Amino acid sequence: MGIRRLGVNIDHVATLRQARRSAYPDPVLAAMLAEQAGAAQITCHIRGDRRHVNERDIRLLREVVTTQLNVEHAATEEMISLMEQLRPHRVTLVPERPDEVTTEGGLNLLTNAEAVRAAARRLSAAGVRVSLFIDPDPAQVAAVVDPSFIGGLGVDMIELNTARYAEGHIDDLSRLAHACAQAKGLGVEVAAGHGLTHLNLAALVKAVPDIIEYNIGHSIVSRAVFVGLDAAVRDLIRIIQA
Ligand code: PXP
Repeated sequence: MGIRRLGVNIDHVATLRQARRSAYPDPVLAAMLAEQAGAAQITCHIRGDRRHVNERDIRLLREVVTTQLNVEHAATEEMISLMEQLRPHRVTLVPERPDEVTTEGGLNLLTNAEAVRAAARRLSAAGVRVSLFIDPDPAQVAAVVDPSFIGGLGVDMIELNTARYAEGHIDDLSRLAHACAQAKGLGVEVAAGHGLTHLNLAALVKAVPDIIEYNIGHSIVSRAVFVGLDAAVRDLIRIIQA
C-alpha cells in the first residue's frame, strides 16, 4: 500500500452473526478477505455487552491477521486485562456508554486524564501501542501532546472523530485539518474514523492529506452486501490513495 492505510473495521459482520446467535458470518473470514483486498489493518471494537466481536474473535484475529490488529475498547479493568493477555498490535481507547447505538464522541482527556493515562501505561507495558480517539478539538489535541500526558505512556497516535463531518457538517473539515496539523507538529500520527463512506471520504482526504490512517466499518460492510467485500474495500483504498 501507499502512504495512507485503510483499517477495515469488521464489527458489523459480527453484528449480523449475533443477530441470530449463529456461527456465521464469521468476522475472522471477513478480516482475511479484507486483507486480501489490500486492507493495511483490521480494526474491531469489543464492548462490555459483546454486541459484536467477542474474545473468541479477537483471539483468532490475533493469530490470522497478517497486517496489524487494532482493537478499540473503553478504558475499563475488564478490557485492559483482556488486552494484556491477547496483546493486539494496537489499542484505540474510546469512551463507551452502555446503551449507546455507536460511539458518541471522543475521549474527554481534560476530565478523564487519570483513567486514560493508567490504561495507556498498562497497555504499553504489555507491548501494545496505544491510540486515543478524540474529537477534533484543540484542547483535546493539546492534552494528548502535553509531555506530562504522553511521556512514557506509549501513545504515538490519535484518531480524530469524523462523525460530525460525516453527518454533513462540512465546517468540520477545517477543525479536522487544524487538529491534524497540531498533532503532527508535535510528533503524533493521525488516524481518522467514524461514519466515513465511499461518498464522503474523498473530500476529507483532499482537505486533510496528512491523515495517515482511516478506520472504516459500517459503510464497508453495508456496501459489501451489494458489491462484495473485495470491491467495497478496494474502492475505499483507491480513494484514500488518490
Ligand atoms: N473508529 C472508531 C474509534 C470507532 O469507534 C468506530 C466505530 O466502532 C470506527 C472508527 C468505525 O466507524 P464506522 O463503523 O462508522 O465506519
